[in-house]
Amino acid sequence: MRKWNFSAGPAIIPESVLKETQSELLEFKSSGMSVMEMSHRSKDYGEIANAARDDLIELLDVPESHDVLFLQGGATLQFGLIPMNFAHIGIPEYLETGTWSTKAIKECSKVCDLNICASSEESNFTNVPELIDWKLRSSNGYFHYVANETIQGNAIHDVPSVENPIIADMSSVILAEPIDVSKFSMIYAGAQKNIGPAGLTIAIISKDFLSSCNKDLPNIMNYDKHAQSGSMLNTPPTFAWYMAGKVFKWLKSLGGLEAVKESNYLKASTLYDYIDRSDFYSNPVAKKNRSIMNIPFILKSPDLDGAFLNEAESENLLNLKGHRSVGGMRASIYNAMPQEAIDDLIAFMEAFESKYG
Ligand SMILES: Cc1ncc(COP(=O)(O)O)c(C=O)c1O
Repeated sequence: MRKWNFSAGPAIIPESVLKETQSELLEFKSSGMSVMEMSHRSKDYGEIANAARDDLIELLDVPESHDVLFLQGGATLQFGLIPMNFAHIGIPEYLETGTWSTKAIKECSKVCDLNICASSEESNFTNVPELIDWKLRSSNGYFHYVANETIQGNAIHDVPSVENPIIADMSSVILAEPIDVSKFSMIYAGAQKNIGPAGLTIAIISKDFLSSCNKDLPNIMNYDKHAQSGSMLNTPPTFAWYMAGKVFKWLKSLGGLEAVKESNYLKASTLYDYIDRSDFYSNPVAKKNRSIMNIPFILKSPDLDGAFLNEAESENLLNLKGHRSVGGMRASIYNAMPQEAIDDLIAFMEAFESKYG
């Protein structure tokens, strides 16, 4: 029996996608084999790969000026590769708003000097520093930020207006709503939240920016080499790429990202409104910086955390435990999570409050 999986990632995948994958598992169309067994250079796989790329381009309205790459290594590898490829253009600027931006900063600092232009560490990352307070050293180096901090549940909803080339980690928010890709030099995201299974990493990079990649790197670390080879420099994560393609088709069938955005905002506001109305639950994040994907909340007393999690599990509500660094609870409600799951969660939270409140 499938239950509501509120995990931050790997996370819920649309059931229709899983079923379709299941129906093709032994034999894809009349190829005589599973997609897992296909050469990435075969005609059948080429069609799968191209269709997925085209659908992603359509969904995000990626302009001609940008390339879409299907990579490996997760967002974590990109933390290191980004400075290796682009630090020579100028001292990178990093905005620190949570655990993932801190990790990106640490990885970058192993490669080069950088400037942390602002940090909200003092507030325990419950807000995002105001643009007016950012101390950018210059406009040459790239500016890196995490659009949605998965652990703290904060988000930057508008693309920051800085002159630097902008790079965003969108691991936990890509495809949640339309974005203006033309404003970014690079967007990257691990797949295991809104895209599909773990193992695939999407990068969308402007061709201009690609041409500035550090040419002395081994090919596998060089974004431009990946782009030139159509992300087939070596064997890509073929099955994850194929499943991502199915998720993209599913998003298109919902009406594209405008429709997805509407349902995401409705889901998030239903849960935030309930939390804000209650005296028993609370969310510490500044309202304008609240994530629509990851919603942390704390109970009146941490002594009740264990009972909350046990009772939630027996109501088929799984993986609500907050990250160990933050405590409390967190509901990750990615694209594939239906409104029904939010309603079930709130019904449970109400019942729990009347029992223990
Ligand atoms: C915003 C963000 N960045 C980076 C990562 C690390 O991703 P990966 O495990 O794909 O390296 C995560 C993982 O949860 C994340 O949420």
